[in-house]
Formats: sequence, structure tokens, C-alpha cells
Amino acid sequence: MGHIVVDHISRAYRNRRRRNRVGDDPDLRYGDRILVLDDVSMEFQDGEMVCILGPSGCGKSTLLKIIAGFDRPSAGRVLIDDKEVARPGSDHIFVFQHNGLLPWMTVWENVGLGLRHMSDRDAKSERIMEFIEMVELENFEHHYPHQLSGGMQRRAELARALAVNPDILIMDEPFSGLDFLTHMKMREEVVNMHEFIGKTTIVVTHDIDDALIMGDRIVIMSGQPSIVKLDRQLDFARPRDFQKEPSLNQLRNEIFFMLGVPYAV
Ligand SMILES: Nc1ncnc2c1ncn2[C@@H]1O[C@H](COP(=O)(O)OP(=O)(O)OP(=O)(O)O)[C@@H](O)[C@H]1O
Ligand SMILES: [Mg+2]
Repeated sequence: MGHIVVDHISRAYRNRRRRNRVGDDPDLRYGDRILVLDDVSMEFQDGEMVCILGPSGCGKSTLLKIIAGFDRPSAGRVLIDDKEVARPGSDHIFVFQHNGLLPWMTVWENVGLGLRHMSDRDAKSERIMEFIEMVELENFEHHYPHQLSGGMQRRAELARALAVNPDILIMDEPFSGLDFLTHMKMREEVVNMHEFIGKTTIVVTHDIDDALIMGDRIVIMSGQPSIVKLDRQLDFARPRDFQKEPSLNQLRNEIFFMLGVPYAV
């Protein structure tokens, strides 16, 4: 479970700008269609972690929304395990998002949300605790989200996602807004989690290093409308280290260049 085929999808949105405003671009009138994704095809293998990079506005979130069934493509289709995605709400997909915790529930209750179907209370408690411990939030299980730091909230969100045991985990910029150290720690957490549970994981990130450290594969989208500019397998041993792996560092430089930054930071 967890094999995804993105089959020639395009997505156009209607321009919502008001007609004939002074200074309006005459080529972009109200009601015109803006093509965001143009005939994009890709495949995600079961259990693979793929990191998607691309400039702001190129359609990464749109692609994720279409895969999760929250949005429909204008053309093409998405197949998950050979079945076409037509609507959201599949138990097989979990979309990890910021502020995904319910504020009136404790960490324990939030993590337990995905385990509603478990009738054995002891087994359920054990499972909730297992995930809380996995993200090192023991002793905070009875705290409410507002009583946690940003990084702790993010870890609780991760525990909640994993407790659902989805076949596919979709993460749209999961580390944005985190301080450097928490970012590093969360990244490690996600890599370990993936090694442990081996679910298909799609991570959109703006951080080239995140993508190269985490991904089994890296996909770069670019342009308007967006196309896949690079789709590369990352067969580097883990843990990955740019200093010790010259070819990884070389690829990093190439990607910086490709994204319009002619020098690596
Ligand atoms: N519901 C919508 N209605 C109209 N236009 C939309 C809608 N959703 C997205 N767009 C447009 O589609 C384009 C791509 O948006 P999207 O959010 O997918 O970009 P992104 O690659 O995720 O960007 P970022 O890196 O900034 O998150 C943008 O130009 C955006 O304005
Ligand atoms: Mg986005």
C-alpha cells in the first residue's frame, strides 16, 4: 500500500483579479485561467521518501492537495494503489500540517484521535504512549498545545500523524518556522521515523539540505506553469554528510545553481 501515480495532471485556476483595473496586466484579465501545473507526471514507490523542492508559487502545495484529494486536477488523474483519487478523507493518507493539533485536547487526546477505532483501552493507551515516547514528549502528555513550545507542538503533530498509521504521509514544509536546532532535531526524527515505519512519505521543503539529507529521491519543480525539472534517486548512505560525501556536495551545488543561486551557501 502506498504506491502513487501522478498521471499527466494539469491544474488551472481562475484569475480572481477584478476586471479592467488601472494598471492591470492586459494579458491577465479577470476570469482568465492561470495554468499552475502543466502535464506533470511522477510516481512514488511504496515506502519511498521523496522530497520536492521548487520556487515559491510553482505549485508544490497544489500538487500535494491533488494527491490527498483536497483538490481536483483540471486534466489527468492521480492513482493510489491503482485506484483513482476522487475525494479527500482516505484513512490511508495523513496530511501533516502546522497547527494540526486540536487546542481543546491534550497531547494524549490529540495523539489518540487517530486511534478512535481501537476498542481495547489498554492496547490503545500503550500505543498512544509509544508514539509520545517516540517524539520524546513523555511527561507532557497531559499538556494542552498552548502549553507547549513550537517545536514540541510539531513533535506532537508528528506523533499524531504516525499513530494513525497511514500508508502515505504528506508533509508540506514541516519544519518551517522552527529554530535551527529544533529543525535539525525534527529532521532527524522524520528520517528515523521513516526508517522505522517505512511508509510512503512526500515532503515539500524549501531547504535543499533537508531534501538531500532526507530523501530517497529528490524532485525539483520549476517554472510557470510548473514542470518537473529534476527527478533524481539519492543512493547515498545514511547518515548523510556533505563533508564526507563529495558527490552529495557536488549535487548540492548543482541544485543551488539550478534554482538560480550560482553559489552554494
Ligand atoms: N485556490 C486557488 N485559487 C487560485 N489560485 C490558486 C489557488 N491555490 C493556488 N493558487 C495559485 O497557484 C500557484 C501555486 O500555488 P501553490 O500554493 O501550489 O505554490 P507552492 O509551490 O506551494 O508555493 P510556496 O512554496 O510559496 O508554498 C500560485 O500562483 C497560487 O496563487
Ligand atoms: Mg506551498
